[in-house]
Amino acid sequence: MDAGVLRAAFARFPSGVTALSALVDGEPTGMAVSAFLSVSLAPPLIAVSVQRSSRTWPELRRSGGIGVSVLAAGHGGLSRQLSGAAAGRFTGVDWAGAASGAVRIEGAAAWFDCVLDQELPAGDHVIALLAVRHVEYRQDVPPLVFHGSAFRQLV
Ligand SMILES: Cc1cc2nc3c(=O)[nH]c(=O)nc-3n(C[C@H](O)[C@H](O)[C@H](O)COP(=O)(O)O)c2cc1C
Repeated sequence: MDAGVLRAAFARFPSGVTALSALVDGEPTGMAVSAFLSVSLAPPLIAVSVQRSSRTWPELRRSGGIGVSVLAAGHGGLSRQLSGAAAGRFTGVDWAGAASGAVRIEGAAAWFDCVLDQELPAGDHVIALLAVRHVEYRQDVPPLVFHGSAFRQLV
């Protein structure tokens, strides 16, 4: 199967974009992730799919808390920044750290403070099941939409 065709077919599915972020050795650390799934209400669980080659995920997974911020319509540039050079990912970013170690991106449409529950090997990715310990959301903040490798808005 042609990987480029498969990637393009996957990109036909519109999604939001999240920022997985936590304090690691006191520094905000994170990555943009569009592969997010709301899994369970009771108990509250979400899942994300992370590339096996990720250098950031092994750092995040050892934090006591992992923040999952649902990025807002104006966060397209931020999501590119959160997938670029690791050293500058939080430069100029308005963020807040929770006691758990989870980091919240200010202005996000929703925020989940999570703890890693399970990891499932999935080809060249790992599916991480995250237990949600705290949640906040803003009804008035439109989300960022990722479709066909471009950022879009709902309205
Ligand atoms: C819009 C967008 C969506 C992304 N979605 C994912 C994703 O679902 N899973 C993933 O592992 N990486 C995703 N990435 C790439 C990561 O943010 C990051 O670039 C990658 O993990 C390599 O950096 P790292 O080695 O620091 O993890 C996405 C990047 C962008 C810009």
